[in-house]
Amino acid sequence: MLQPNDISSFWLPFTPNRAFKASPRMLTRADGMYFYDEAGRALLDACAGLWCCNAGHGRKQIADAISRAAHELDFAPTFQFAHPRAFELSQRVAAMAPEGMDHVFFVNSGSEAADTALKIARAYFQKIGQGTRFRLIGREKAYHGTTLAGISVGGIGNNRKPYGPLIPGTDDHIPLPYDYATMRFTRGEPKGGESYADALENLVALHGAETIAAVIVEPFSGSGGVYGSSAEYFKRLRAICDKYGFLLIFDEVITGFGRMGYAFAAERYGVTPDIINFAKGVSNGAAPLGGSVISNKIHDAFMNNSGGEHAIELFHGHTYSAHPLACAAALATLDIYRDEGLFEHARKMEKVLEDGVHSLKGAPFVADIRNAGFAAGIELEMDSKAPGRRGLDAIKLAFHEQNLVVRVGGDTIALSPPLIASESDISKIIDGIRGVLSKLS
Ligand SMILES: Cc1ncc(COP(=O)(O)O)c(C=O)c1O
Repeated sequence: MLQPNDISSFWLPFTPNRAFKASPRMLTRADGMYFYDEAGRALLDACAGLWCCNAGHGRKQIADAISRAAHELDFAPTFQFAHPRAFELSQRVAAMAPEGMDHVFFVNSGSEAADTALKIARAYFQKIGQGTRFRLIGREKAYHGTTLAGISVGGIGNNRKPYGPLIPGTDDHIPLPYDYATMRFTRGEPKGGESYADALENLVALHGAETIAAVIVEPFSGSGGVYGSSAEYFKRLRAICDKYGFLLIFDEVITGFGRMGYAFAAERYGVTPDIINFAKGVSNGAAPLGGSVISNKIHDAFMNNSGGEHAIELFHGHTYSAHPLACAAALATLDIYRDEGLFEHARKMEKVLEDGVHSLKGAPFVADIRNAGFAAGIELEMDSKAPGRRGLDAIKLAFHEQNLVVRVGGDTIALSPPLIASESDISKIIDGIRGVLSKLS
């Protein structure tokens, strides 16, 4: 029989379910920088939900837009039909992307965006008569979501190991441009690192450029542990892709919409990829939405090489691609980012977060501190007998003792506050983390 308040049925994603259900952490309301639990206790949100609520929580403008859309057009198919907000949103997003990237394919999540970009890359080369290009190259520690394609190009062992053979043509991963011996406790993105990009040359030598379709990278690796990289590194990646004619995909699911102080990290680093994936911040987390911004070169190849006008150019999409409620949420979100200057604010606050987080150097169990844009990671020394145990302890201590919601990947605490954070919010987060570190064992 169903029991009220029975928490056994919900299988939580990426969570130790047994530990959670023994001592749940419930969030029942959110407003501004805060979550609230069942008892009404306020918990400062140090991670913008899950890197997504960049404009803070409980934004009335967004809630009203979703409500209006639900009353007006609850659903419209985007297979063979469409609705005006889908076009409006695609224009708004494309206008924020680098020049020459004027087309947007909508999906519902970052994982689906990864699938979309990788499929488009392979199909593009078929369209232009280079069908031998099928290899998709990822990077160590990368996170591109959880579909089979995403974990194939992803580089986090635990996300891949249980799932048997992955997608053919995705075995290669270039190194993460990070050297623990020389880069620990760097403030901001470590400089240089171009030689890490040169690893692509080795793959060209090994497989032949004519077999490579694309390389996919996060301009800043979030879930893999918060690693930034230099503009020079990304420029070198771009140059190698151009030299050999394969595509560069930026997975900006975290870095898009202000996390790096710009609409996209592509702007921060002055590099134009061929495809930019986005999700999360585009709708402030208030409705599921993701997508890929596609270069004109790729888009036009599909339009010009697919036969007569009756022909479908890309056999791909989702029931909820450009869902009307999600589009309404995103349009309201982009208005807020623009009207409140939140990307510029994030740029200003970046240094405050950097100073705060690096003040934790020397605290117990701190192995490394990294930051880039308006995000930072505090890597804890791993308990060799129980990897991840110290990270989980940090979440629990933060929640129960410091009134703080933090995100942990493995044993790295990730901080990515909503972009509305003030200096005093950042101080409170750093004080809370200091309290957490003092209680770790
Ligand atoms: C870079 C990156 N790509 C893809 C994803 C997957 O997004 P989703 O969880 O919406 O499927 C994430 C999620 O954290 C991400 O950080």
